[in-house]
Amino acid sequence: MRRKHLVGVVVVIFLTWNLLMYYMLVSKNPGKIGGVSVKDQLRNLQGDIERQLSHNSELLQQLRKFRENERAEKLDEEIRRTTTPRPIRAEDTIIPILLIACDRTTVSRSLDLLIKYNPNKKRFPIIVSQDCGHKPTADVIQRYVGEYGIQHIKHPNTSEIPLPWPQKKFQGYYKLSRHYKWALNQVFHTFNYSAVIIVEDDLDISPDFYEYFSATFPVLHQDPSLWCVSAWNDNGKVGMVSEEADLLYRTDFFPGLGWMMERSMWIEIGPKWPEAFWDDWMRHPDQRKGRACIRPEICRTSTFGKKGVSKGLFYEKHLKFIKLNDKFVPFTKTDLSYLSKEKYDPYFAKLVEDTPEVSVAEAMSGRRSNMKALKILYSTKEEFKSTAKKLGIMDDFKAGVPRVAYKGVVSFMYKGQRIYLTPPPNWTGYDVKWS
Ligand SMILES: *[C@@H]1O[C@H](CO)[C@@H](O)[C@H](O)[C@H]1NC(C)=O
Ligand SMILES: *[C@@H]1O[C@H](CO)[C@@H](O)[C@H](O)[C@H]1NC(C)=O
Ligand SMILES: *[C@@H]1O[C@H](CO)[C@@H](O)[C@H](O)[C@H]1NC(C)=O
Repeated sequence: MRRKHLVGVVVVIFLTWNLLMYYMLVSKNPGKIGGVSVKDQLRNLQGDIERQLSHNSELLQQLRKFRENERAEKLDEEIRRTTTPRPIRAEDTIIPILLIACDRTTVSRSLDLLIKYNPNKKRFPIIVSQDCGHKPTADVIQRYVGEYGIQHIKHPNTSEIPLPWPQKKFQGYYKLSRHYKWALNQVFHTFNYSAVIIVEDDLDISPDFYEYFSATFPVLHQDPSLWCVSAWNDNGKVGMVSEEADLLYRTDFFPGLGWMMERSMWIEIGPKWPEAFWDDWMRHPDQRKGRACIRPEICRTSTFGKKGVSKGLFYEKHLKFIKLNDKFVPFTKTDLSYLSKEKYDPYFAKLVEDTPEVSVAEAMSGRRSNMKALKILYSTKEEFKSTAKKLGIMDDFKAGVPRVAYKGVVSFMYKGQRIYLTPPPNWTGYDVKWS
């Protein structure tokens, strides 16, 4: 029984060994197992892996492309943001106040009001440009630098300007013009602002000075037939203006005395800026090119200075009677689009046309005082001057344009009545020979 068992075990071991040997031989000597060769399997596997790899690299490429696109978009956006000028939103444009100063310590009076009424010193930064190197004036200005953060710049060139004898007495005008040029170059080319409001060191301003310029800026910006906004009405004396503080006009006369212009204007006129008498030069057709300014019925500036290059006698006779507006008009909340040329011109022409015409004598007699407005015609320079003298308005011309005129029409108040001093209907334009 034991022997039989042993033989069985040996047989089983023998068979098992044979079986093992068979499998070992088969695997060492590759052939076919189950119908598919290992080579084929391997080839399949390799194919699979290659397909997977190429798919992966495709995915990778797509991912890369996507990220590149994303980056390009970001770059585009960055370029757009930094290089394209954004459309000007009026309330965003920074408009510095350039105060032209020299040797008057009373510049503090101007500065006090400019600071008092300033609604936002980031939007309306104040720059004082000082000529003349006058130390006491510099000290006064310097106080405001520390206390209010205004900017004080000094014209580096205070040298005498060599002039032949007949012009010598105009030295002041030459220096003023040179200073303006330098200061405006600083504003537009060094500080790179897109607009400016220019005042001098002898001006008071009205409470709505900033409001006025803020609201008229978009009108100026959008209308190429406008080249400035001025705070000044040359006929703005007490008794010669109405109570309509919100009333604004277009004028062909460049008024100055607190005025705003855009950078594009300086780029145009700066390079040919004159050596002297810059304001009359501005009024010449070569510069004005038919363009108009906006001006108010009631002045938003008035001058208190007597000492100045031109203003001594003129001050006593005229400037000190100018009415400075004292009411705040919320101009930014009113629609000023009526000041654009296409709206204003037909409106103004009709207004004048519909006004009854009278003689000067009749207007002065008061017989037509029941009428809201009257029209007086002038056909010649002499007629204009004589009528202007009788009614108390400015009677001079600059480059043929009467002060405050628009299309030849001068609007003012006479004894509480609106008067339009008007050229005849066949009028074709200003005559530069009228002076
Ligand atoms: C200063 O102004 C004068 C006259 O306008 C000019 O001749 C001169 O070159 C200027 N000097 C400097 C340093 O700019
Ligand atoms: C000045 O500002 C304009 C945008 O108003 C800008 O395009 C220009 O690059 C600026 N120049 C300098 C010198 O900063
Ligand atoms: C314009 O009309 C006036 C009369 O109203 C006349 O005296 C004048 O000669 C005319 N001028 C022109 C240029 O036609």
